Amino acid sequence: MSVFETIKNRRSIGKMTPERPSRQQIERLLEAATHAPNHHNAQPWKFIVLAGKAREELGALMAENLAGRLEDSHSEKAQAMLNKERTKLVRSPVVIVVAAEMPRQPNVLEIENIEAAAAATQNMLLLGEEMGLACMWRTGDAAYDARVKQWLGLAPEEHIVAFLYAGFPAIPRLERKPIPFEEKTTWIGWEA
Ligand SMILES: Cc1cc2nc3c(=O)[nH]c(=O)nc-3n(C[C@H](O)[C@H](O)[C@H](O)COP(=O)(O)O)c2cc1C
Repeated sequence: MSVFETIKNRRSIGKMTPERPSRQQIERLLEAATHAPNHHNAQPWKFIVLAGKAREELGALMAENLAGRLEDSHSEKAQAMLNKERTKLVRSPVVIVVAAEMPRQPNVLEIENIEAAAAATQNMLLLGEEMGLACMWRTGDAAYDARVKQWLGLAPEEHIVAFLYAGFPAIPRLERKPIPFEEKTTWIGWEA
């Protein structure tokens, strides 16, 4: 498949089978991530791979945090929300947390480190597509939660850029119909 075909075919797949990709497959994704563009060779990404019980443990913390934010955590609606939060991560056999470090050198900007970590995430999504995996980039409140970062061993000022869910597809992928680039593009100084 050409890169262009892979880009066009790639769809986020939210429903996965319980089968876990092999360590080798996950390592391949991580290796692809490390080839992403980054400014001043900062290579500002960090990856934390969650599988098995780790997903349940972090899910429990996420639900605890949500309970703290709810006015009434005992209502039926709140209980449903808490259950959803608790079980979020187990929707996928593997979750790769992608984080961006704070700049270490004075000439590196924080936003550029975040952009580089996003590019690393996209590398994984594209390779995942080529490898026949189901992948989905998610964030949500947990990505911005100090206790979640602490649990993951991240510093409070580091950014969680993605919870990349990775598994095998349980549903077919549908065709994407993006807004045509013509509607998103301004050409300046392009003589016919
Ligand atoms: C930074 C970022 C965060 C996202 N967070 C979520 C999320 O928490 N939940 C979700 O359902 N989709 C989330 N998405 C969207 C999906 O990953 C996906 O891109 C979207 O559903 C479009 O599907 P496609 O990738 O197949 O085009 C996020 C996308 C980005 C770029």
